[in-house]
Parts: sequence; C-alpha cells; structure tokens
Amino acid sequence: MDAQVMRIKPLLHPLKGATTVPGDKSISHRAILLSAMAEGTSKLSGVLDSADVRSSIDVVSALGAKVDLKAEPDGSLAGTVTGWGDEGPKQPDAPLDCGNSGTTARLLMGMVAPWPIRVEITGDESLTKRPMRRIIAPLMKMGARFEPEAQENLPIIEIGNPNLKPIVYDAPMASAQLKTAVLLAGLRAHGETRVNEPAPSRNHTELMLPEYGATTSAAYRTAMVEGPVTLKASEVDVPGDPSSAAFLICAALMKAGSSIKVENVSLSASRIGFVRTLERMGADIEVYHKGQEGKEPKGDIEVTFTQKLMGCEIPKQHIASVIDEIPVLSLVAAHAHGRTVFRQVNELRKKEADRLEAIIEGLGLLGVDAWEENDDLYIEGQPGLVVPSGLTFDSYKDHRLAMTWALVGLCGNAPVDIIDFDSVKVSFPKFLESLEGLAQ
Ligand code: S3P
Repeated sequence: MDAQVMRIKPLLHPLKGATTVPGDKSISHRAILLSAMAEGTSKLSGVLDSADVRSSIDVVSALGAKVDLKAEPDGSLAGTVTGWGDEGPKQPDAPLDCGNSGTTARLLMGMVAPWPIRVEITGDESLTKRPMRRIIAPLMKMGARFEPEAQENLPIIEIGNPNLKPIVYDAPMASAQLKTAVLLAGLRAHGETRVNEPAPSRNHTELMLPEYGATTSAAYRTAMVEGPVTLKASEVDVPGDPSSAAFLICAALMKAGSSIKVENVSLSASRIGFVRTLERMGADIEVYHKGQEGKEPKGDIEVTFTQKLMGCEIPKQHIASVIDEIPVLSLVAAHAHGRTVFRQVNELRKKEADRLEAIIEGLGLLGVDAWEENDDLYIEGQPGLVVPSGLTFDSYKDHRLAMTWALVGLCGNAPVDIIDFDSVKVSFPKFLESLEGLAQ
C-alpha cells in the first residue's frame, strides 16, 4: 500500500483550558485480558477504543470470551466481558492476529501457557520483527512449548501445558510485558511465581490482579503471584492515558502562551516519569492526586508554557518510567538550553519502530545535534529553534513517532509532512482534534 502523507499546519492559538485523554492503553489491555480469564461477567468503562486494544478484544473473543463493549459518546468503550474462568480458553480455529500490538502478543503468550490448546500467534509487519524470545524463554522454563522452539519472531505456535511449574525469574530487562506474561502464566502454576527486574517497570498488573481476586505481592523490582487461582469478575473504570497526556503537555511547553490541565489520568509513578523529567528541566508543571481507580492512583496534570527549559540527565534506572515518552521528551529537549542525556535506551530499538534511530534522524532534519553512544541518547538543545520549511518526517508507522513529529508542525512556525500519520489510531485516534480543540 502507498504511504499516506499528512500535512500538519501550525496551530493558530496557544493551548488553553482543561481536557481529558482516552483511556490508558496498558490498563485497557489488562482489563480486557484479565476479564477474559475470569469467572463471571466484568464491567468495564473508559476503555481505550484504538487499534491496539481492538487487537486484544479480537484475540480474547477468538479464545471464547464474550466481549460486549460499545462505543460511548466520549469515544471510549464500555460494557461487559464474560470470561472463561475454570473452563479455560477454547481452541481457536485460526491464527491469533495481534496486529501492531506487542502488549497483546506478549500477554497472550502468558495467558494461554497453562491451557491444553495450541495457538498460532502472529501480527503485522512491525510486530513480526519485534523480539519474542524474552517471553518465550521463561514460559518454556515453566513448561509451555513453542514451535519452532526458541524462535525470536512471530508467527509462532504455542502449545500450552496444564502442569506449569512456578518459577523465580530474573528478567534480563525491565519490561512490564515480560513480567506480566510470566505472572499470568503463574496464576495457574502450583506455588509462587516471581519476577525480579533490573529496574522497576510499570506495575498495573500487580495492582489490578488483586481486584480480580488473585494474591500478589510486589515491592521494588520484584512481583509475585500465588497459584493456582481462578480470577473472579471485577469492575474497572480505566483512567486516562498519561502517555497520551504527555503529547498535550509537551505541546503546551513548546507553544508560547499555553496553559492547560489534563484531567483524570493515571498517576502511577511507573508512568509519570516524564512529569518528573519535565520538572527537572524547569517546566512549570503540577500534579494533583484525586483518589484512585482500584489501586491505581489518578488525578490531573497542569502545565504552563515555560520560556527557559534546561537539559538534564535521565539515569538508566528511570528509563522504564519514561520509555514511551522518550520520543516527545527528545523533542522538548531539542528546544532546551544545554544537553539532555537518556542513559541506556537500547529498548527503544525494540519498539513499534527503531525509535532510537528515528529520533536521531528526525532531530537531524530539524538541524539539532543528537547522537547515540554506548546505548545512551544525547541531544544538544537549541533554544529558539526555527523549523525549516518543507520538512517531511517518516513515522515508520509508529504512533508515538507520528505524534512527536506532528508537534513540530503544530507548535512551530512552518507546516510539516508526516508519512503514515494514520498510525496514531494505535493509541490516540483523536490526537489532532484534541490539540485543535485546546487551541481555539
Ligand atoms: C507496556 C510496556 C512497555 C511499553 C508498552 C506497553 C505494557 O513495554 O513500552 O508501550 O502495557 O506492559 P515493555 O514491557 O516491553 O517495556
């Protein structure tokens, strides 16, 4: 198919006022998957309606869960999911296509591991290039089988095993997808399954599982489940996605005169590393805690355009808490005084595209000096950056790259073209409308 090019023009006014963002993608996936695994009918609301979440819905439906979620006027999905509980998932009659969604594919592997079924798991061009051995390795230790064995990429066939062994796994990287896949498999193993991590990754699974009746315990860099347990239906109202909010917040920091509030977003410490980074850069930004959804903290984030931002260093133990925001933070860093360094960002190469290479390429188009050295990303800020006219950015069909480069056009002085801008449908389908709505 020919690439679609979208011209993004500068916003005519600063961003002002309060807004909300669509439901959190990570929590939406988990709400659907955990509800599909549970006994009974769960009630969900605020679920993100996006291509990635639709992949999770399709996959659990093919495995026998009954999903009855409808689009609400605010664009979210709400309704019920009836799970398979003790009966387990049914043998699907076709390959399970996870589309562009790494979370769907990796969590699915853990979810089906304890059941006597054989599933073929596949995805789109990007997903079939992403690493899967990190998930396959611990699941094989637990007793699941794969064909071909220990292969890195999809498509792959997984053969579940009802006698899974619990394990203690020292994860080689901080990855919530890896941690979750092992914990989901561990729910049906007899005994304690534990994942230790080199740095803390997002903890939505550990926080949500008790709401579905499972015993978990979690502390700094470690999480465990006690099996076997049958999950029980629950109720989840998904808070807004801080990773989507990050684009609006960074836009306000790059568009003079802006002042906005993003309401009702997840304020999980494992997700708002970008706020902490912006604070350290000197941004006028404030977080207001407003209670919890289940065990998930939520609230508002307020930000005002700040004339002088300073570069800073983001150490490797904090990278997981900003991992999805590094593209847009890199763009903010390009406008700041001094140098910004993100330490040990090799995982950026393993996302929907090679984001490390794409960031350096995109900033290069802007005339900003950015480079990689020993897996660290360096950006030399250029305050007063003027966008050259006639720029075209390739999103590499990666939603977060598409939105990052769109902000160059929206918040700058000249329009830009974005190749395959349409990939924003993966996490924030109304991204443009949302920004245009704030710039009235
Ligand atoms: C996610 C975990 C992160 C993140 C991804 C969503 C999740 O990936 O980048 O967008 O929902 O668990 P890793 O687990 O690979 O770090």
